[in-house]
Amino acid sequence: MNKTILITGGAGFIGSHVVRKFVSDYPDYQIINLDALTYAGNLENLKDIEGFPNYTFVKADITDAAHILEIFKEYQPDGVIHLAAESHVDRSITNPTAFVMTNVIGTVNLLNAAKEIWKDNYEGKRFHHVSTDEVFGALGETGLFTEETKYDPHSPYSASKASSDHFVRAYHDTYGLPIVLTNCSNNYGPNHFPEKLIPLCIHNILNEKPLPIYGDGKYTRDWLFVVDHAKAIDLVFHQGKNGDCYNVGGFNEWQNIDLVSELCKQMDEKLGRAAGTSAKLITYVKDRPGHDLRYAIDATKINQELGYQPSVTFEEGLSITIDWFLKNEDWLNNVTSGDYQKYYDKQYEG
Ligand code: NAD
Ligand code: DAU
Repeated sequence: MNKTILITGGAGFIGSHVVRKFVSDYPDYQIINLDALTYAGNLENLKDIEGFPNYTFVKADITDAAHILEIFKEYQPDGVIHLAAESHVDRSITNPTAFVMTNVIGTVNLLNAAKEIWKDNYEGKRFHHVSTDEVFGALGETGLFTEETKYDPHSPYSASKASSDHFVRAYHDTYGLPIVLTNCSNNYGPNHFPEKLIPLCIHNILNEKPLPIYGDGKYTRDWLFVVDHAKAIDLVFHQGKNGDCYNVGGFNEWQNIDLVSELCKQMDEKLGRAAGTSAKLITYVKDRPGHDLRYAIDATKINQELGYQPSVTFEEGLSITIDWFLKNEDWLNNVTSGDYQKYYDKQYEG
């Protein structure tokens, strides 16, 4: 069926995998990738599909309400998959306002534009908001986040995402806007920007630089391969129940120190370095303020209602990821030149 789907943040890490999946799997859809190309957006991520006839890129900033409405009027999307965001917790601690602008105001601008162009007919329309498990706050040693867990965000990033989730639900409850929401755990995979733990450590292992572990390294995250997140978004966008939220995760918890040790082991093998070489780079550094101890997703609902299963094990996903970074050193060198170095020096100084 012909449809126009507008994907925001499609030049970023997860967005580029979602755009690739939709452009390749749905040749009858017109896919509009709307992205401001901030430091995290990179059209190199989409080189392989940029010539596809059903793909269009539009450079725009979601904080610019007038421009966003113009684009919605021009392209008349039937569906919106909203991923554009400021996404890095550490950056939200140094510059919270940027997170309010993009994640809260930007989301409201998109909701207003969708409401404006769909006002006479919500039939076949859908606004899918891509969110995070961080809105639920921190778990102790046990327990899992379900769709019923109360929101309790701690960082400026998670507070901004929680706020945007509330606005999306408010537009459903108040104006009847057709929405679905997904709250996903930590992603990893190709094209991951090297400010985040896994690609940062891959980059530093390659360059034999210290691997910074915040605090005691016992903080725990639930990791999901990015291609499996894109698969979940596809399922929920097409089959999720109007107004519902779905938690997405891999039942795959790792303490940071164990995860980085596993990464060191796999990288030593792939680089032909002696066992234990990269682990020597592990360096404990000062903790992230307000650091959430543990996130873990209960993905029962998406599994039982929509038949969702991740397609790769963590070992397979990590191996594919490392191989991608080894084959794409130019990509890594490009994104770590310029402003990245300034960010890195400031974040990890002293
Ligand atoms: P990312 O930082 O890699 O990419 C964000 C993209 O949004 C970039 O292409 C950037 O250019 C674009 N963008 C930023 N501000 C914009 C603006 N004002 N206007 C238009 N475009 C703008 O982020 P990511 O890790 O790919 O995350 C994508 C989404 O998924 C975010 O909403 C994030 O909250 C959510 N999420 C991420 C994870 C994760 O582990 N990375 C997990 C769960 C949910
Ligand atoms: O849970 C989903 C979230 O996962 C997403 O919503 C966010 O957009 C995404 O950035 C990610 O947030 P985290 O803060 O969990 O990811 P990050 O890679 O920054 O950190 C993972 C863990 O590793 C966390 O406990 C902090 C720790 N860490 C991180 C960095 C960058 C370190 O110990 N050292 C580091 O240098």
